[in-house]
Amino acid sequence: MLETRNLTIKFGGHVAVDHVSCSFKPGTLTAIVGPNGAGKTTYFNLISGQLRATEGQVLLDGRDLSRLPAPLRTRAGLGRAFQLTQLFPNLSVLENVRLAVQARAGRGLRMLSVWLHHRDLLDEAMAIVERVHLGDKAAAPAASLPHGDQRKLEVAMLMALKPLVYLFDEPTAGMSVDEVPVILDLIRALKAEGQHTILLVEHKMDVVRELADRIIVLHNGQLVADGEPAAVIASPVVQQAYLGLAVEQDVQVAA
Ligand SMILES: Nc1ncnc2c1ncn2[C@@H]1O[C@H](COP(=O)(O)OP(=O)(O)OP(=O)(O)O)[C@@H](O)[C@H]1O
Ligand SMILES: [Mg+2]
Repeated sequence: MLETRNLTIKFGGHVAVDHVSCSFKPGTLTAIVGPNGAGKTTYFNLISGQLRATEGQVLLDGRDLSRLPAPLRTRAGLGRAFQLTQLFPNLSVLENVRLAVQARAGRGLRMLSVWLHHRDLLDEAMAIVERVHLGDKAAAPAASLPHGDQRKLEVAMLMALKPLVYLFDEPTAGMSVDEVPVILDLIRALKAEGQHTILLVEHKMDVVRELADRIIVLHNGQLVADGEPAAVIASPVVQQAYLGLAVEQDVQVAA
């Protein structure tokens, strides 16, 4: 179980995440919604360790991870999609995923005393590359991929780590319409596996409605709603604070 207790960060005088207390059970997908600047990405950064909290804690299965740097939180099971800057741009798609598989296998090595051969690592990496529909680009340098494929690679790297907690921050942002279903299918499949804790920041309310077991709403860094999707979407706070804004944005996009 992932839990944040009074999680808070201040940038100067601005409280970007404001005493957020929330827990997330394995086997559930929670959507995090809220207007631009609400603190959603910052909340993820606090959980994954890219940012250190001003106040409050992040706990995974009761263990306080708040003082750990990001790599050790990854090792503990908090999976944040890699940013492109964390990939090896000149290595192939397959090699990048293999390195992530290897990082995880190395972690298991001490516990299981199982030696994974190079071939096994490559086979596992290739299976993941195919799962994200990048099989035909396995040999391409990561840097050469178009945007949508880069996002698929990010998801592949995350899956290779087999985290306990998956943090997806707008995984379909900037993707073309025909690429979006690939990512959504992957998230749906991860959810169907039943044991992962999945947090998804997503602006598309139809996606949220379909995938989420629960929605939490952040507004000005505060947790302002939390519950079953239909009830949260219908609540006045969401209608005003979030959907009103989303409608305006859609109009702008259409215009
Ligand atoms: N490193 C930083 N230094 C200063 N201010 C920051 C920093 N990171 C985020 N902020 C501020 O914190 C607030 C929350 O930003 P955040 O990116 O978490 O919003 P968000 O909910 O993810 O928005 P969006 O939907 O646009 O992605 C914003 O006001 C932002 O300007
Ligand atoms: Mg964001």
